[in-house]
Amino acid sequence: MPASYRTKPTRIVVVGSGAVGATTAYTLLLRDRAHEIVLIDANHEKAQGDALDMSHGAPFVGGAKVFAGDYADCEQADIVIITAGAAQRPGETRQDLLKRNIGILKDIVQGVLRYNPNPILLVASNPVDVLSYAAWKLSGLSHKRVIGSGTVLDSARFRYLIGEKAGVTPKSVHGYVIGEHGDSELPVWSRTNIVGAPIVLSDQEQDELFSSTRNAAYQIIQAKGSTAYAIALALDRICASILDNEHGILNVSTYLEDYYGISDVYLGFPTILSGGGVKSIVDIQLSENEFAALRRSADFLKERIVELSLS
Ligand code: LAC
Repeated sequence: MPASYRTKPTRIVVVGSGAVGATTAYTLLLRDRAHEIVLIDANHEKAQGDALDMSHGAPFVGGAKVFAGDYADCEQADIVIITAGAAQRPGETRQDLLKRNIGILKDIVQGVLRYNPNPILLVASNPVDVLSYAAWKLSGLSHKRVIGSGTVLDSARFRYLIGEKAGVTPKSVHGYVIGEHGDSELPVWSRTNIVGAPIVLSDQEQDELFSSTRNAAYQIIQAKGSTAYAIALALDRICASILDNEHGILNVSTYLEDYYGISDVYLGFPTILSGGGVKSIVDIQLSENEFAALRRSADFLKERIVELSLS
């Protein structure tokens, strides 16, 4: 729903005006997602340049106001999207970024909470699951108001590749990638379908298609240095589901309290999003092998959390 249809003016703050942050702000602008879009960056001049460049397109888009700000501008924010931090270099895994990005995240969470006691935090910086857990712990917010982009993007890549194979639009493919936004993620083939019918692929075809999904970011980073467009669209989709109180299901990185024994971890899982953030997770009845893979992914993430002595 365009921002202009909403009675309460909405503000989205994007922390980090790098490739992901600036592209996300631009996507929010194109989609008329909020009345105000604020860019915060340690390099304030960069944020100002991006905001000015986007504002000059105002006659061609909805009425959103885009400006560079600071943490005081988080006071009225409905959603604060955190994109700041080091990005993967060719050959690096997302987990390799943890030590560099946890310190940046601490400063950001402190800055936001100084002015806004109850925002919804949407983490996109990597490694997104561990940083989402850290943001939850550091902020003291309800876990229902702290989420990460999770495997929303991976599921979109998965659906795109299946659609290409099946000759249908990815919009008509129900496909789920869950777990770590990273190398231990898993495809939920048992729940992936087109009009309710399972996807007919050989084991090898399934393996190849999922491998292309899981390795997509490495491929793009090798080609052009970073990803930005699809993650920006995923973040906009998440914001829409929250701001429109949609009760949509997205595989955001969410806190598992006790999912058949999997607890105290953030990972990508089908989650119902509403105006207040997380409404609930969806028990999608995984197969035995899928559940075992999810537990391995959760255990991997919990080890990273312990290393940070966050739990
Ligand atoms: C990717 C980044 C957002 O998967 O982790 O493109």
